[in-house]
Amino acid sequence: MQTIQSNLATNQTLSGDASSNQFLEDVLLGLSKPQKTLPSKYFYDQTGAKLFQQICELSEYYPTRIEFELLQKHSSEIAHSIGTHAAILEPGAGAKTKARLLLDAQHQPKSYIPDELTKETHIRSITRLRSQLPDIQLHSKEQDFLAEFKDSGEFEHICNARRILFFPGSTIGHFDYAGARRFLAGVGQEVGRDGGCLIGVDLVKDRNSLIEAYNDNQGITASFNKNLLNRVNKDLAADFVTDNFFHQAIFNENESRVEMHLVSLKPQQVTIEDRQFSFRRMESIHTENSYKYSIESFTGMARQAGFARKAYWTDAQQWFAIFYLVGI
Ligand code: AVJ
Repeated sequence: MQTIQSNLATNQTLSGDASSNQFLEDVLLGLSKPQKTLPSKYFYDQTGAKLFQQICELSEYYPTRIEFELLQKHSSEIAHSIGTHAAILEPGAGAKTKARLLLDAQHQPKSYIPDELTKETHIRSITRLRSQLPDIQLHSKEQDFLAEFKDSGEFEHICNARRILFFPGSTIGHFDYAGARRFLAGVGQEVGRDGGCLIGVDLVKDRNSLIEAYNDNQGITASFNKNLLNRVNKDLAADFVTDNFFHQAIFNENESRVEMHLVSLKPQQVTIEDRQFSFRRMESIHTENSYKYSIESFTGMARQAGFARKAYWTDAQQWFAIFYLVGI
């Protein structure tokens, strides 16, 4: 029962709460490489999570908006594809606004299993969801809701239900092609042959629109990127001067990914614990990749991971797509 949630939640690429030792180790390792890097999972401290929330509301950042519109517009068709006797699992669920759309349309008996990153948001959003959708049974391993349901018909339902993993937000874009394939193959193991996966995927489009989405006018994404240096300063003994770096978003067409970098404005030295790192003028720290697919490339990758595309929904411009994948 607990497998999919715990396996996915402990996946290091998706979770930012590591011990400070791990954080230090990752930072030192990343900054020692010829192309310096910092892992994007560390973006999401409290400030970072707030900034990401603001990014999602930016007019330039189309993925959240389009995905939401797709879920809204096609919710009954999506629910129809998923079918009856399905339990929807959402690893790393946050505000659950997207899940709510899905659940609204889901066939009875409804079932939803979020897996939270933080307890606080968890309790708040669970309470909100409960009051808004009283006919839905919610489950969470953290609060051991399952124990509560052990003797109920609902528990039976979950054990017998087909498992549908809900993975919105183009979070899969974190992984490179091989990583995404491994991730999906892992999902396949967890949901089983009769299970499925509803997944949001960002699509390749013109370079300008891609770059604007990661370099907004208000500079929110720049603050989000730079906050990583603030976090290193705060959580580790480091002396980054954040004003000595600028935010850069580029589209790497060969790799089909948007990259975020922090670029050093001048030659400088940074000390972290007892280690010194030198930066040349214009030398960058690569902080994030966001892979972009075509309908075909994603379908092909999913197939290699053991999934067939049962349906997909996209906007008129084909900027974003939601795929419903089932085991082959
Ligand atoms: C959370 C990885 C889906 O890549 O679009 C948004 C993160 N970074 N703006 C993305 C992000 C800068 C986002 N994902």
